[in-house]
Amino acid sequence: MKTTSLLLLSLLLSSCGGSGSEPQPEPPLPPALGSLREAAFPFGAAVNVNLLRSSAAYQGVVTREYRSVTAENAMKFRSLHPDAATYAWTDADYLVQYARQTNSRVHGHTLIWHNSLPAWVTGFQGDSAAWETLMKTHIQTVVGHFRGQVASWDVVNEAVAEDGTLRPSPWLQHLGPDYVARAFQYARQADPDAKLFYNDYGHEYGPTKRTAILNLVSSLKARGIPIDGIGLQLHTSLTRSDANLATAITSAAQTGLLVHISELDVAVNPGNQAGLAWSDALAAAQKAKYKLIVQTFNALPAAQRFGITTWNVTDADTWVRGACGCPDWPLPFNEQYQKKPAYDGIVEGLQ
Ligand code: XIL
Repeated sequence: MKTTSLLLLSLLLSSCGGSGSEPQPEPPLPPALGSLREAAFPFGAAVNVNLLRSSAAYQGVVTREYRSVTAENAMKFRSLHPDAATYAWTDADYLVQYARQTNSRVHGHTLIWHNSLPAWVTGFQGDSAAWETLMKTHIQTVVGHFRGQVASWDVVNEAVAEDGTLRPSPWLQHLGPDYVARAFQYARQADPDAKLFYNDYGHEYGPTKRTAILNLVSSLKARGIPIDGIGLQLHTSLTRSDANLATAITSAAQTGLLVHISELDVAVNPGNQAGLAWSDALAAAQKAKYKLIVQTFNALPAAQRFGITTWNVTDADTWVRGACGCPDWPLPFNEQYQKKPAYDGIVEGLQ
């Protein structure tokens, strides 16, 4: 009935038009989203497990808005495997259980990275065979522990340097450049159903790093290495151009892989000014960036839209403030857990 009357209305309106000078009717807006959980692809957040446990307000926002969770730190090497013979699962297991209870997907972050390594790894004395065993054992123990519960993994994180070469790291030093490929093979053996991602930042900085990352993942794919997706961290800021942001997203999709915007935040204080104050102008500029990013992602082929994950939940718990030592407000929720204009930008980008 409703559809029929809409159809009649639009026929009537189109037959009344014709001269070109009369105002055309606005296309009808889809109904407003009740929450980001209703997006066509999983929208998620990186979660601080201590806050999830201790703050009802924090858990409330995560549960209401997000249908995917990534552990901000709880699945990193140093957290899960603090000593050679010790694995510490408590926090990560808590997150996985929370996700099961709330019907959310868990994205695993991250198996092989140059950061967040415990001292026993950075100081490890052994030949390349011993390093290979170390890497393989870590990957297979962790992926095996969460098999069937963690849907996807950032298998290798940030292997590419700003100049496009492979970043110096203990992994590169002891295992050679093909450690990246072997990490994916070990992960696939441990959970054949988990989606495996290469994750990095800086796709939107310009062509040098972006091209190097795209070449790396394309060559892995061409060699039959089991890679399913590319993660774009997109820790970005107001200073990144719309053109570079859009190219980052569309060029990732041209690989044919799943695309995950895996660590999204939009910093508004890239100059690290100590005295910067939040303002309507910053809020509007940030909203426009969020909208552009979400809209560009939403226009990708549906089968490649793995999801968008913001890095943290609110401006109170963002890592950006700690990393820059300055005021910033990079997320869609403010310190009072209220939606910001950035949130409206996301909703508009989804329409
Ligand atoms: C950050 C966390 O948010 C911080 O709490 C921690 O001290 C350092 O790591 N790229 C990544 C993430 O892949 O793991 C980082 O997370 C942010 C940059």
